[in-house]
Amino acid sequence: MMMFQKAITLKKTPKMITYAIKVNAFMWLAITILLLSSMSSTVSAQTNKLTAERQHELYNMVRQDCGSCHGMTLKGGLGSPLLPDDLKSKSIDFITLTILKGRPNTAMPPWNEIVTRNEARWIAQQLKKGAFK
Ligand code: HEC
Repeated sequence: MMMFQKAITLKKTPKMITYAIKVNAFMWLAITILLLSSMSSTVSAQTNKLTAERQHELYNMVRQDCGSCHGMTLKGGLGSPLLPDDLKSKSIDFITLTILKGRPNTAMPPWNEIVTRNEARWIAQQLKKGAFK
């Protein structure tokens, strides 16, 4: 009886270990993939890889849609002026967030269903540069 029990435990143990190793390896693979994908999205957020066509669309959107409140030349209207001098003290991150989330209790709407974070960041950078003249 004792022998029989021992045989079972001996037989089972290696299997459990290989199983544990497999699970572990899979977990590390998953973590690596997650890390790599989050790294690549950070990189693209920094480099703003937008096609020329999309940049053109966004450029027109800022002139027309944002311009309807902020003024065609972004000198201000219902919305505050958005020229480089006006945004001097504001960070790219802050402007990006304002574009994505809007300003609660003001006329500034959120644009997160129309532009991606990367695109909002691109717009913020262009605003800081005064690219929408
Ligand atoms: C319906 C009108 C309206 C539209 C359209 C609009 N905005 Fe605004 N926006 C405002 C108002 C009003 C404010 C000022 C909010 C406040 O009082 O804080 C504002 C504030 C901002 C600010 C913050 C400026 C600062 O000095 O802090 C940014 C940046 C901005 N808008 C960008 C945009 C962009 C980019 C678009 C187009 C994608 C856009 N807005 C479209 C009304 C609008």
